[in-house]
Amino acid sequence: MKRMQDRVAVVTGAGNGLGREHALLLAREGASVVVNDLGGTVNGVGGDGAAADQVVSEIRAAGGKAVANHDSVATPEGAQNLIDTAIKHFGRVDALINNAGILRDKSFAKMALEDFEAVLRVHLLGSTYCTKAAWPLMLEQKYGRVVMTTSVAGTSGNFGQANYGAAKMGLLGLMNVLAVEGAKANIKVNAVSPGATTRMTQGLGAVSGEIDELMQPAHVAPAVAYMASEECDFTAHIITAAAGGFGRVQFFETEGVQFDPRQPVTVDMFAQAVAVLTDLSTAAPVAPGVLGQMPARLATVGIQF
Ligand code: NAI
Repeated sequence: MKRMQDRVAVVTGAGNGLGREHALLLAREGASVVVNDLGGTVNGVGGDGAAADQVVSEIRAAGGKAVANHDSVATPEGAQNLIDTAIKHFGRVDALINNAGILRDKSFAKMALEDFEAVLRVHLLGSTYCTKAAWPLMLEQKYGRVVMTTSVAGTSGNFGQANYGAAKMGLLGLMNVLAVEGAKANIKVNAVSPGATTRMTQGLGAVSGEIDELMQPAHVAPAVAYMASEECDFTAHIITAAAGGFGRVQFFETEGVQFDPRQPVTVDMFAQAVAVLTDLSTAAPVAPGVLGQMPARLATVGIQF
């Protein structure tokens, strides 16, 4: 079964690495693919349409359907033009894979704010602009699949990547809210947290040579293709994918403590409860919505609402 038959997918940053594999696999699964890439270096300098064109040629040579787009996702105009390209050539957008990214690594102490902003602009704002352009179409057709690309640099932290980690966590906030807002229109918004040897990670020395070879970007693409397909019925999930291994990252909250809010609550009371309220053995997944554990906790001191 071809999971993306008659579907249209837009993949950003699809000229290299992970995006390229996502585009190739989505095309093999039957999707018409818009291959976006402005070219440029890992640091986001320069631009060259050849990378996207090459992937389009590969897809077409294999009998698939694809067009290239060379806009930068980091401007609202570029993102709009990308989505317009999909409409012009294929008439709709079913899946949007926000994958484009750059690095400007430095310790926070040494990082220029310009480099902080440049990374946020491509990852966080670029994904926002593309999703914003596709969103009304998805709402209208009552169907959509959006995949964000997050990173362990955000969910776990990594030295020298304050800009990147902040952008990647920002994307998860965007995902959570859009998952709620898109629910009634059958729009599922999920994230992949990949690990792969690409030009972005080559030489970073995170893992040894042998493992490096096993971390093929093609091993990440199946998770993305699934989340881009109708078969995917979950939303706001963060799926890890590296070297053929897959998992799920989820935020948890502890059972915590509850004081009577009709009485003063002091720092001393908090200090005495720290060990209990931070004890993860009582943690449960956070539920969508803004109240969290509050109703359950207040019930323990006799307050119902
Ligand atoms: P890559 O450097 O091979 O590919 C990124 C692509 O995005 C490049 O082709 C680049 O030209 C394109 N791009 C950059 N800025 C753009 C813009 N403004 N508009 C359009 N295209 C743009 O890197 P890789 O590893 O394939 O990364 C893909 C995504 O996966 C990124 O979001 C990255 O942060 C994320 N990621 C990768 C990990 C890995 O282990 N490779 C780990 C965690 C996250």
